[in-house]
Amino acid sequence: MNQHVADRLRFLRAFVANPRQVGAVLPTSRFAVRDMLDLGDVPGAGLVVELGAGTGSQTAEVLARMKPDARLVALEIDRNLAKLLQERFDDPRLQVVCDSAENLHDHLGGQKVDVLVCALPFTSLEPGLRRRILEELPRVLAPRGVALVIQYSPLIQPELRRLFGSVQRRISIWNVPPAFLFACALEAPAEDR
Ligand SMILES: C[S@@+](CC[C@H](N)C(=O)[O-])C[C@H]1O[C@@H](n2cnc3c(N)ncnc32)[C@H](O)[C@@H]1O
Repeated sequence: MNQHVADRLRFLRAFVANPRQVGAVLPTSRFAVRDMLDLGDVPGAGLVVELGAGTGSQTAEVLARMKPDARLVALEIDRNLAKLLQERFDDPRLQVVCDSAENLHDHLGGQKVDVLVCALPFTSLEPGLRRRILEELPRVLAPRGVALVIQYSPLIQPELRRLFGSVQRRISIWNVPPAFLFACALEAPAEDR
């Protein structure tokens, strides 16, 4: 069985075991991953964070774009998926952490995040947990950093607008289902101020 098919099965198994936590039956397509990462400056980043890394669809592309001395901290709450990520990527720039995204701050050693890539299924998470994670995002971001959030509905948009000075949205159609991509920054662009 090739890796692509094996990943889909692993992902589906994780979904069946915990549907609200995984929130999707398929990993993000490589087209949507590229569309998402094109919204941020990964090559210029010193610290990149990934929340809900799953089987690593974003991880691989982030590592491919990152500079040699940058660092990627990838959080994944599912123990089996975190183990898979650990085994799959033999890259000293990557630190896989099996923990909940609400504890992100504890894993950054005080460094601020330049690009945050978030694939958490916010609409199916318990409301208290969703709020705690969302409020953590602007807190850990560097002043000129960007949080890239992928969702399967626009429902989270008002919450992102409340937390960030600027939220840009685009849709990536080459994904099942089509994905809403949000690029969130702390400050509004100069022309909007
Ligand atoms: C929609 S999947 C995205 C997986 C992968 N990034 C992708 O795009 O294919 C969401 C992932 O978030 C993980 N997750 C859910 N809640 C989490 C939490 N509180 N902290 C960290 N990871 C979490 C799930 O286990 C799952 O792997």
